[in-house]
Amino acid sequence: MDQMTITLVRHSWQKVEQIAPQASAIFYENVFTADPSLKSLFKQGDMTAQGQKLMQMIGVAISKLDELDVLVPVLENLAKRHVGYGVQQVHYQIIGDSLIQALDQGLGSDFTPDVKNAWITVYGVMADVMISASKY
Ligand code: HEM
Repeated sequence: MDQMTITLVRHSWQKVEQIAPQASAIFYENVFTADPSLKSLFKQGDMTAQGQKLMQMIGVAISKLDELDVLVPVLENLAKRHVGYGVQQVHYQIIGDSLIQALDQGLGSDFTPDVKNAWITVYGVMADVMISASKY
C-alpha cells in the first residue's frame, strides 16, 4: 500500500466523518438491498449504534494504515469475533461493494477514480487480513 493510497483514503474519510450517520445508514441500506438475508446476523437490531461502531473501527484502521504491526492483530481479533456473528467469507465482498457504493453516494464528485481505487485497495487489505484470520 503506497503513501498516496493512504493519503487519498484518509482525506476522503474526513469528509465521510462529517456525514457519519447518513453514510452508515446508506451503507446498511446497500448491504441489506444486496443481501436481505444478512439482516438476521445483526442481532443487536440498533443499526445506529452498530453504524457508529463500524465507522469508529474504519477510522481506527485508517489511522493505522502505516503501522500494520499494530493494525493486523486488531483486525485478526475483530475477524474472530465475526466468525461468532455468523459472518462467512463470501460476505466480505458484499460488505466491500456496499461500502464503495456508500462512499460514492456520500462523497459525490469527491469520489474520483483515484479515491475509489485507493478505497478498493484499503478494504481489500483489511478483508484479506480478516478472512485469513477466520480460518474458513
Ligand atoms: C473490514 C471489514 C469489517 C469491519 C471493519 C467491521 C467492523 C465491525 C465492528 C467494529 C463491529 C462491532 C463489534 C465488534 O467489535 O466485535 C462489528 C460487528 C458486526 N459485524 Fe462487522 N466489520 C467488518 C466486516 C463485516 C462483514 C463482512 C460482515 C458480514 C455481514 C459483518 C457483520 C457484522 C455483524 C453481524 C456484527 C455484530 C452485530 C451485532 O452484534 O448484532 N461485518 N463489525
